[in-house]
Amino acid sequence: MNGQPLLVTCGLPYTNGPCHLGHLRTYVPADAYVRFMRHTGEEVVFICGSDNHGTPVVVSAEEQGISPRDLCERYHRHFDETFRRMDVVFDHFGMTDDPANHERTQSIVRQLIHNGYVYPETVQQCFCPKCSRFLPDRYVEGRCPHCGVMARGDECDQGCGKHLEPGEIIEPTCRICGCRAEMRSQEHFFFKLSAFRDYLLNYLDGLSGTSNAKNYAIGWVSDELRDWCITRTLEWGVGFPGRDDLVVYVWVDAPIGYIAFTEEWAKANGKDWKKYWCGENRVTHFIGGDIIYHHTIFWPALLRAAGYGVPKAVVASGMVKIDDHKFSKSRGYVVWTNEDYLDKGLPSDYLRYYLLSYTNHTKELNFSWKVFQDRINNELVGTLGNFVYRTLYFAHKEFGGIPDAPVDPTVDGEIAQTLSLVRSSMESYEFKVAMDAIMTLASFGNNYIQSNAPWKQIKEDRMAAAATVRSCLQIVSALSILIDSFMPERAQRIWNMLGNPGKVCERTLDECMVTAGPRVLPEPSILFGKLDDALIQDLDRLLEKRVEEANRKANKMKEISIDDFGNLDIRIGTVLSATSVPKSKKLLLLSVDLGGEIRQIVSGIAAFYEPEDLVGKQVTVLANLAPATIFGVKSNGMILAAGDKASLLVPLIPVSPGTRIR
Ligand code: 2FM
Ligand code: ZN
Repeated sequence: MNGQPLLVTCGLPYTNGPCHLGHLRTYVPADAYVRFMRHTGEEVVFICGSDNHGTPVVVSAEEQGISPRDLCERYHRHFDETFRRMDVVFDHFGMTDDPANHERTQSIVRQLIHNGYVYPETVQQCFCPKCSRFLPDRYVEGRCPHCGVMARGDECDQGCGKHLEPGEIIEPTCRICGCRAEMRSQEHFFFKLSAFRDYLLNYLDGLSGTSNAKNYAIGWVSDELRDWCITRTLEWGVGFPGRDDLVVYVWVDAPIGYIAFTEEWAKANGKDWKKYWCGENRVTHFIGGDIIYHHTIFWPALLRAAGYGVPKAVVASGMVKIDDHKFSKSRGYVVWTNEDYLDKGLPSDYLRYYLLSYTNHTKELNFSWKVFQDRINNELVGTLGNFVYRTLYFAHKEFGGIPDAPVDPTVDGEIAQTLSLVRSSMESYEFKVAMDAIMTLASFGNNYIQSNAPWKQIKEDRMAAAATVRSCLQIVSALSILIDSFMPERAQRIWNMLGNPGKVCERTLDECMVTAGPRVLPEPSILFGKLDDALIQDLDRLLEKRVEEANRKANKMKEISIDDFGNLDIRIGTVLSATSVPKSKKLLLLSVDLGGEIRQIVSGIAAFYEPEDLVGKQVTVLANLAPATIFGVKSNGMILAAGDKASLLVPLIPVSPGTRIR
């Protein structure tokens, strides 16, 4: 127990769509961590809420024809309920659009201005001439200036993952009407992030949590730290003090939500929120790997600039893949928590187990229903459930309760060793190692009961059988406390089947070693049921259908006239040279002979071709694409390729360089 209480938060979900497996990859481990730390005797507050502002919400509300507030309330309720159904239980789940957050955000922004960390600057912004409005963040789409891949206005979500400042995106188009955006100047406000370089390097050096968060952040800070534009031209959000036409950028008021929600929780529970946020603290943020930059750089700098305490730890989860494909809602590679899982009657504990034990927290998790089924049937049913049930069944049948016999010291030793490994692993966010250690204890139990064979012992030596059963029951009792953080519902069932009163979540870890006195045991029931093949096939089919549907939608493109086609200058060219682009893993710089001229073209195909193999090859080029600068290199045209592996389109019969496609 440490004097200072622990405050654990989870990244706030945007209220623009339902909960999916990608969310759970962060929330379930965070919940398991909180439950476990409580078992160690720590005082823990678990805070989260919904992220209501910014263009993710405004664009969705506009598309659905409802007000942003209505959309937020709908999805806020949805997340709150879904998390509870998954046994992810927060002490408080707030909304960033609630008054506490408006007030705290404005107070912090005023403090930043007062401390001299905010300055105005007139900058070029994307503007849609047809919709007659500025296009902040997700209102605009185009290409990333760093890697050339299609990107949103404020982040390169499909490519290099970099944060983009307003006006940086190239070839911008309006997301609402598809019109090419113009650049117009407008006054905005910037946060002096660049002033925090030395401070952040020192801070990051001492940051706890997972190494991915710390290492990425150190790399970025060492690289380049640019000031952040912290205002947007939107009507929905927290107003920027002194300006009616601007709101603060969502990445300002969203993390401040962590503080505002702590205030709301503290007020309702007679606590002092300042204890958590002013000065030294033990704030631990659980986040997805895609928002490390915001939590390790922007957020601590903002807190420091406003005079608040900075987070102690950042724990970042790896990304989720579905059947080997990049997680993508628009392409159908998604598993929805309610529709695909809970509403089918599947237990929250099964998915919790899978998420916590499949792979290390920071690694990529490749989900498939088949692997899910195998893990549940072999491990939960075959090992854990089997051991618990056979022990309880035999004890109930032969002894009617817990027999009065000593626990084998070897068994005590095994439990103690497991306890210590689980504890050290949980404290270092190694959830898989902890879960594996618990399953190893269950396997040990299975071997122990099998080799001692109390069903044989009882025929000749009832005392020996009683000692075996007593030892096995001690393991079952320890398992019940240990799995509570991972599978709280099943843990409570075991606890009840052991004839215990009360809640297992209120027991401390030390009680794993406590020897209970003789007690009557109720008749046990099976703990885990197998997942049958028919169900898994149905779930697989559902996923396939969703992907097919998404493909159909994506392929349904706008019809064009022959004149539109005539406007495309597509030609065959011959590659004269190919080299890699410095500092980029994805890009190649090609020099292409297009007949009368040589073109320099940057292409995102480096992962699939060796530069020397391309020299002399014929490729297809969109020759009248507007020139762009990608990764600091001028690109004049686009090489055409198909599919995930960038298969190049080549003529079947060689033609002279410059031949037009007709
Ligand atoms: O990326 C997201 O989904 C954001 N809504 C996370 C916000 S976390 C925090 F900083 F508020
Ligand atoms: Zn990029």
